[in-house]
Amino acid sequence: MFYSDEIIEEVRSRSDIVDVVSGYLSLQKKGNNYWACCPFHNEDTPSFSVSSAKQMFHCFGCGVSGNVYTFLMKYENYSFPEAVKVLAQRCGVKLPEAEYTEEQKKLVNRKQRLLDLNREAARFFYYQLRSPRGKVGMEYLKKRELSEETMKKFGLGFADMGGQELVRYLRSKGFEDELIHEAGLAVMSEKRGLVSQFWNRVMFPIQDINGKVIGFGGRVMGDGEPKYLNSPETPVFDKRRNLFGMNFARTARTGNLILCEGYMDVISMHQAGFTQAVASLGTAFTPEQARLIKRYTDKVLLAYDSDGAGVKAAIRGIGILREAGLTGKIIHMEPYKDPDEFIKNLGPEEFQKRIDEAENSFFFEIRILERNFDLTDPDGKTKFHREIAKKLLVFTEEVERENYLQAIAAKYFVSPDNLRSLVASYAAQEGGVKPAERPKTVTHQKETPDDKAKRSQRVLLTWLTDYPTLYQKIRKILSPEDFTDELYRKVAEKLFQNIEKGNANPASIISMFDDDKTQNAAAEVFNTALPYISTLQEREQAFHDVLLAVKRNSFEQRRAVLAQEKDGFSRFLQAKKELEDLAKTFISLEEG
Ligand code: UTP
Ligand code: MN
Repeated sequence: MFYSDEIIEEVRSRSDIVDVVSGYLSLQKKGNNYWACCPFHNEDTPSFSVSSAKQMFHCFGCGVSGNVYTFLMKYENYSFPEAVKVLAQRCGVKLPEAEYTEEQKKLVNRKQRLLDLNREAARFFYYQLRSPRGKVGMEYLKKRELSEETMKKFGLGFADMGGQELVRYLRSKGFEDELIHEAGLAVMSEKRGLVSQFWNRVMFPIQDINGKVIGFGGRVMGDGEPKYLNSPETPVFDKRRNLFGMNFARTARTGNLILCEGYMDVISMHQAGFTQAVASLGTAFTPEQARLIKRYTDKVLLAYDSDGAGVKAAIRGIGILREAGLTGKIIHMEPYKDPDEFIKNLGPEEFQKRIDEAENSFFFEIRILERNFDLTDPDGKTKFHREIAKKLLVFTEEVERENYLQAIAAKYFVSPDNLRSLVASYAAQEGGVKPAERPKTVTHQKETPDDKAKRSQRVLLTWLTDYPTLYQKIRKILSPEDFTDELYRKVAEKLFQNIEKGNANPASIISMFDDDKTQNAAAEVFNTALPYISTLQEREQAFHDVLLAVKRNSFEQRRAVLAQEKDGFSRFLQAKKELEDLAKTFISLEEG
């Protein structure tokens, strides 16, 4: 952790979650909680709740949960220390100089060193491109009609045929071989030692939103394979969370962003004045990238290649954008393959027209769908209309769905009434209208015994958090070791300590973990649905069942270990006896 637990907790306890979240979403009070539409998945009826008592948020739709830090980390894409800093400033707590453990110091240091090294390497490539050795590269880029200014803006460079110079240069700047290797810039060769990974390639430095060089893409000269070689993931290069060109696009102020497939597309677009262009990093577009975009705009134009692969990628992209609550439109490049070729042939004005004419992503999806059906055949036509009706179910808001329905009906010459009745019948089959794609976390897969065990552990922890006085009744029976899941064990340990001190304070426990995924998993532990039961007797039965399930699972896990140990057998018998006793014990849930 970068800051001490005390500071983290102080800042958290002074930052009321309802207050902070209100700055981003408009919350409605209903019952004990505040509600809004979830910012982390697309929905029209609020299932995102903020609890003032627990100081936590939880979405009943997609399952995200956490405390005030988790919210900022997810919403703003902040790291944990960034979230602490922002909130500290907001509530007027002065932060001490960051306290690093040795290990963190090393990591921070290594990340900084990797960034330094990448910057030096970019410099090296940059000068090589402009030296006699870079002649091939320079000719290539000129042939692709890039101006000096553009090459400079993007820091383009060149890696020549030789394998040693870069390594020698980096060593001379004081970088160790190990680091050069870790940055993915060189590989070990048996004969020649450390040699450059990139050669005979034009080099595209990949920068994060702050303009730091985090990796490289290199385009081969001629027809070699692979056409583009990218740096591997490193501690500073996360391909899922960065976008090429974002450091410039973020300040473009065009009210939208253009997502392309390739580095060259981004560069030509910027050169033509479309400084809002970005591209993913040699991998498919991710939800994390969608969230990064959402920090700047909610309108995204897709300028993917016009070939089959591009169309497929666009369809996938639309889903991800929709899921993140962004609107997507499709820019058509026909008869050209990609934005780079288009602009070269028809120029920026024509491209601007294509932007203005960009196709609504739903119409695009339907048009692509249409290709699968033979519309001259009545059966084909019927099938197509059915598929349209199914697709219309993604719109959960009545007005929006109706508007799309009418537009589509007019476009494909279907009677709106017929289409509407088809939609209604599919909606009924699916148990009401709901988003077609829900985040993975809530899809119902078959529960394995392990899931089941974990679920009882979660239920028990939620129960104890909501009713801390219960803990006193079972503290002799239950210990953190009974939680077989490592994360839950840690959570239980802290929760029991807190309860002993008089306040369950679940939100404080979440900030023990420093990445948003783990925070989310920890927060889930406090937000499990408790069995909904009205009578005290049934509740007591349910609580007993859950406690027994947790103890039994813990026993099953330990019996194998016990069998190995010296006095294992007697301890095994002891544990077994305790379990049998518990099965017969009555635990009253009455207060006092
Ligand atoms: P394309 O092959 O569409 O690139 O790949 P392009 O922009 O048209 O390339 P040029 O114009 O021939 O130079 C698009 C993107 O896919 C990734 C790269 O990020 C590239 O920019 N890619 C492509 C790879 O990572 N590896 C490859 O071998 C090819
Ligand atoms: Mn191209």
